Amino acid sequence: MSSPKNVAVLVGSLRKESLNRKMANALIAMAPPSLKLGIMEIGQLPLFNQDFEADPPQVIRDFKQQLEAADAVLFITPEYNRSIPGALKNAIDVGSRPYGKSSWNGKPGAVISLSPGAIGGFGANHHLRQCLVFLNVPAMQQPEAYIGKAANLFDEKGAIANESTREFMQKFLQAFEQWIDRNLPQKQ
Ligand SMILES: Cc1cc2nc3c(=O)[nH]c(=O)nc-3n(C[C@H](O)[C@H](O)[C@H](O)COP(=O)(O)O)c2cc1C
Repeated sequence: MSSPKNVAVLVGSLRKESLNRKMANALIAMAPPSLKLGIMEIGQLPLFNQDFEADPPQVIRDFKQQLEAADAVLFITPEYNRSIPGALKNAIDVGSRPYGKSSWNGKPGAVISLSPGAIGGFGANHHLRQCLVFLNVPAMQQPEAYIGKAANLFDEKGAIANESTREFMQKFLQAFEQWIDRNLPQKQ
């Protein structure tokens, strides 16, 4: 049996009671043993400054190293003003530099947007995909995950309370595992 795939989960919200973090934790609990999901924190990162490139602070070196160790990346994000939160864009920028040494390069990815609103963070989902094209992160196209009306989606233990959403997320994880298999960079 092949070893489990390590998936770095980036949550676009920094708040303690974040619904997106709840989704990340629910997926960590639901994932099959062949997918090892773990949240990669982004709130500790300094605001990106191109001056860092010559001698990046340790916190950035650690972030890039952790990212490079992952087989794949899963973004779970709210929508802020019809785009992605600044903290997530910052993490994307931090991981993308120095020029020519992007830690995102070639990693298979997937995007989940989640909002208490009705349209499930569609704008954020697609703005994020625009970055991923440039970063050479092949982002799974189907199934798409725009999770709307999420205010009461989780029970008191943090599990997804709605059965159809739970089944959908299970299928999403299965499809993502196949996507990772198909898109992992070939070892030289
Ligand atoms: C600055 C800001 C902008 C927001 N803009 C949007 C938006 O464009 N679309 C949307 O559906 N919700 C928007 N919201 C509401 C968020 O979806 C809601 O606060 C959500 O719970 C945030 O995700 P979290 O629970 O993971 O922190 C916005 C919230 C904030 C704080």
